[in-house]
Amino acid sequence: MKQYRNYIEGKWVDAGSGKTFENRNPARWSDLVGTFPESSAADVDRAVRAAKEAFESWRLMPAPGRGEIVRKAGDLMTARKEEIAMAMTREMGKVLEEARGDVQEGIDTAYYAASEGRRLFGVIAPSELSNKFNMAVRMPVGVCGLITPWNFPMAIPTWKIFPALVAGNTIVFKPAEDTPGTATTLVELLLEAGLPPGVLNLVHGHGPGAGAPLVEHPDVDLICFTGSTEVGRKIAEACGRTGKRVALEMGGKNAQIVMDDADLDLALEGVLWGAFGTTGQRCTATSRLIVHEAVHEKFVEMLIGKAGKLRIGDGSDGNADVGPLINEQQLRTVEQYVEIGTSEGAKLRLGGARESSNGREEGWFFKPTVLSDVTPSMRVAREEIFGPVLSILKVKSLEEAIRLSNDTEYGLSSSIYTQNINNAYRAIRDLRAGITYVNAPTIGAEAHMPFGGVKGTGNGHREGGWTAFEIFTEWKAVYVDYSGKLQRAQIDDV
Ligand code: UN1
Repeated sequence: MKQYRNYIEGKWVDAGSGKTFENRNPARWSDLVGTFPESSAADVDRAVRAAKEAFESWRLMPAPGRGEIVRKAGDLMTARKEEIAMAMTREMGKVLEEARGDVQEGIDTAYYAASEGRRLFGVIAPSELSNKFNMAVRMPVGVCGLITPWNFPMAIPTWKIFPALVAGNTIVFKPAEDTPGTATTLVELLLEAGLPPGVLNLVHGHGPGAGAPLVEHPDVDLICFTGSTEVGRKIAEACGRTGKRVALEMGGKNAQIVMDDADLDLALEGVLWGAFGTTGQRCTATSRLIVHEAVHEKFVEMLIGKAGKLRIGDGSDGNADVGPLINEQQLRTVEQYVEIGTSEGAKLRLGGARESSNGREEGWFFKPTVLSDVTPSMRVAREEIFGPVLSILKVKSLEEAIRLSNDTEYGLSSSIYTQNINNAYRAIRDLRAGITYVNAPTIGAEAHMPFGGVKGTGNGHREGGWTAFEIFTEWKAVYVDYSGKLQRAQIDDV
């Protein structure tokens, strides 16, 4: 069993209080991954001070050089992909193949962000005055507080850390308490790639003890958070009060629409992957299935047949399709939602219970669950569950399908299966979500594309690709007057 530490000011250190917390394998509780520092405001303060000091030199390193360090981290990640994926499965539970995908998303992000070090394009515009040059350039924001979730323990931290670094910011990184091991590996890779001390500081711990002081700290310039809407709203309030930039990526209640003209076999593969991949623990997971009445019964039967054959088990066992839930609390939440759904009148067609037989006694396993006859006002049609529970709604038309898909406080991902090009383009236009898939499930975002959502999912920002640099840079307008005389904008003639 390993004792992990924080990384502050270029040193691996315990929490000031000496307190620790345990991290256990969600597929086998007796497997203790390690102990981690239970940090508090004093640790956060040291980390912020280190980041603030390091900012003065890091911002002056040429962006291509900053990108080079991120590229090397990507190379190291590539070389150790298998080992990192195995450790991720052990602490988070997702099946090994998906853990490899999570690491690959980090690698893709590294190479994309590194290449941006040679672009970070600004804008040149004409001046209204003679002999004057106007341009707008990107500047780093300063000290970034990055708070990340456990469901993508490598990919999501890299979405934030790599572009933030390339743009010239310094960082205090507070990873989820359920996946601190993968976060530690990411920091180690960046150090091995040559990141100077103080540029990236790692503070382990829980939200109230370590996350909240980071959000409140006066020397933090930006908070970038991925997690629940409940916590995200509190963060937004605190950032409003303390005047920080804030980028939020929160919940989803994503729907896959299946039209009567869809390729049903393809739509079936899509919903199985979208709803039960990562045990439904993605903010992009397919949580609702909206099916045209003409194919409804047939499709539900097809779905139940296939979903009932998914193999539940320890993600490190190559035969499992669906791993455990992250922890006991998540298991209880999922159990409660099944109860809520059936008591509101939904029909339980598959699963609905814990799986704890044949070596699965010591894990948070839950059977893939399908609820049919769900109506739009039921809680299982409205609230994010974050587990392997799919709610099915029946519709009569494309208009009704789109209306129901949009009938949610969230707006992250959306999907339509149809072979009719008119339906597809109407859906692209009318689905109110940050992401729309045509003939593909609600999951599967690529690292170089904008990622984020509308309505309750976010606050207008997009991670991924070039759009991440809108979060991590400030625009500066620059005017260079080479006329040798005072020229007054809006007043003097040219
Ligand atoms: C998340 O669900 O929090 O599109 C991120 C996907 C992944 C990222 C998901 N590439 O499902």
